[in-house]
Amino acid sequence: MPSSEPPLILGIESSCDDSAAALLRGRQVLASVVQGQAALHADFGGVVPEIAARAHAERLDLCVEEALAQAQVRLGAVDAIAVTAGPGLIGGVLSGVMLAKGLAAGLGKPLIGVNHLAGHALTPRLTDGLAFPYLMLLVSGGHCQFLIVRGAEDFTRLGGTIDDAPGEAFDKTARLLGLTQPGGPAVQAEARQGDPGRFRFPRPLLDRPGCDMSFSGLKTALLRQRDALIAEQGGLRRQDRADLCAGFQAALCDVLVEKTRRALALYAGEQPAEPAFAVAGGVAANEGLRAALTRLCAAQSVRFTAPPLALCTDNAAMIAWAGGERLTAGKTDDMTLAARPRWPLDRQAAPLIGSGRKGAKA
Ligand code: KG4
Ligand code: ZN
Repeated sequence: MPSSEPPLILGIESSCDDSAAALLRGRQVLASVVQGQAALHADFGGVVPEIAARAHAERLDLCVEEALAQAQVRLGAVDAIAVTAGPGLIGGVLSGVMLAKGLAAGLGKPLIGVNHLAGHALTPRLTDGLAFPYLMLLVSGGHCQFLIVRGAEDFTRLGGTIDDAPGEAFDKTARLLGLTQPGGPAVQAEARQGDPGRFRFPRPLLDRPGCDMSFSGLKTALLRQRDALIAEQGGLRRQDRADLCAGFQAALCDVLVEKTRRALALYAGEQPAEPAFAVAGGVAANEGLRAALTRLCAAQSVRFTAPPLALCTDNAAMIAWAGGERLTAGKTDDMTLAARPRWPLDRQAAPLIGSGRKGAKA
């Protein structure tokens, strides 16, 4: 390998319900394999930690093999192994950490433990080459927080959800209205046909300063409205369902946009040379949210980036990238690397309440 070539990094991710492996050389994603477990958990209404851990243990090595085949490289060519060491469901995290330790010991290559949230938060550097400091909104089925990203291990949390994550709210809304899972895309499709003004849903915590958010009341408001319509009419009409989805999505977007406005104001205090705001997580795919955030950033002359969906949702390419950033800084781990269920990015910030459908949110 010519010495100028960036190292070949194997990434491994298993913190929730996706088993994933990826190979990266610099900003080039040579392979990114993700094996979801939705079918295994479908009957239980959420991720079952024991089932997830067993599936990771059975599948992770196959993901690694598939990534090597896709990238057409030998295992021996890998220069370092990066693995999610938390936060997440502990059985799954352990599966990944054990595999990574075995590979690192067997190959005699560096082992790098990565914070899953740092993987999400650093993705815009992989996809768009963003410079520090930038503002990040992590918004998915398990996470919701604003971060100022100052360095690969330097994060300040400005605020986050105090209960549900927005993806959970979308999924619960879909369940209440008899739509398919995952709820986000289904609610979005209904919302396109609906009138966002017919039902006025609450905009929680907008009356309070700061960037914290709450989404559980929104779901309760939707449930009440649904039941009121059923009591009144004997059932839900097609248009009612579309209007409920449109009203729900509008409320959720309004909250996220207003809180983003506040986060941008705090971030401006950093006096960044090139102000930039990035979103990541499955809910970042929402077209209403993307359009609203694009408008907000345009009005404030802030660069807006949203990584492609495959890199927004859980994947191992982001883990390999974040591992590469640590490797560049000379920070590697040894065989004492621990799997951690909780691992906040910002140790100064108060812990977030609630553990979430997919494990710890902090
Ligand atoms: O990041 P992700 O794949 O997994 C984690 O939660 O970590 O996010 C999945 C979430 C689900 O709750 C799903 O309903 C939501 O992202 N989602 C969307 C859309 N696409 C996916 N929510 C709103 N609008 C969408 N278009
Ligand atoms: Zn995630």
